[in-house]
Amino acid sequence: MRTKITVVGAGNVGATTAELAARKGLGDVVLVDIMDGVPQGKALDMTQACPIWDSSARVTGTNGYEATADSSVVIVTAGLARKPGMSRDDLLKANAAIVGGVAREIAKWSPDAVVIVVSNPMDVMAQLTRRETGFQAERVIGMGGVLDSARFRAFVAMELGVSMRDVTALVMGGHGDSMVPLPRYTSVAGIPITELMPPERVNALIERTRTGGAEIVGLLKTGSAYYAPAAAAIEMAEAVLLDEKRVLPCSAYLDGEYGVSGVYSGVPTKLGAAGVEGIIELKLTDSEIDAFKASAETVRAMFATL
Ligand code: 2OP
Repeated sequence: MRTKITVVGAGNVGATTAELAARKGLGDVVLVDIMDGVPQGKALDMTQACPIWDSSARVTGTNGYEATADSSVVIVTAGLARKPGMSRDDLLKANAAIVGGVAREIAKWSPDAVVIVVSNPMDVMAQLTRRETGFQAERVIGMGGVLDSARFRAFVAMELGVSMRDVTALVMGGHGDSMVPLPRYTSVAGIPITELMPPERVNALIERTRTGGAEIVGLLKTGSAYYAPAAAAIEMAEAVLLDEKRVLPCSAYLDGEYGVSGVYSGVPTKLGAAGVEGIIELKLTDSEIDAFKASAETVRAMFATL
């Protein structure tokens, strides 16, 4: 059977995610959206690009879920995006209604899928998706840490004038204003950035990472970032589809790790065919663990309002 990847939401993030999946030939791609004609039109456009992309992917656009049946991976991007001045959390109620409905359709049509949640506020939406699908926690994963770490990596590379490829970074906690970038675990070819720049520059880059999404919303004015979010979602999907055992920061359900239980938050995970196959527990300093716990508690508090 051919591998199938479903992307729910045919807006900028969803369409760019579908494009990357098709270009990389990860499998057949089904793009779902409630807007009549939009997923169909974008899918047909991508289909016509596939000969040039050298891709055998079949790309389908649909307003329903029948064509999504038996997907291996479902990426949820549906929902409203931020406008200037809005935080990710401002989207809570509207997106909960949308994502809850999507989750129930996923459970019905693709009961064995691994689900990657991108919709904001992402950690809360991941927790909601887990509840509404009834899936084991390992199979519902939130996309935030890969994106936030990529932003941190980009800013470090820009600051030092070095290749983006040589920078690795770790951002933990929720995908929101309380995220926890960790300079101790951020390095250039293995050299900690704390040895390459003064503390005030490290702090400035941490702050720019925290507000990295809002910076783009402010520039675009009509929506939020999509190239980097889509690239991050596809890196995670690829890790699952190819059973790569990648170590990537993702939002995962915590069951005692880092002293936190019953909530989704960003932690270093091992991603493979089963989804989250492990959570790496680092020895954090007191201030790092306090920041991490505070971030996880904001997710718990928001989820409790639903
Ligand atoms: C961002 O950070 C959309 O949450 C996404 O840009």
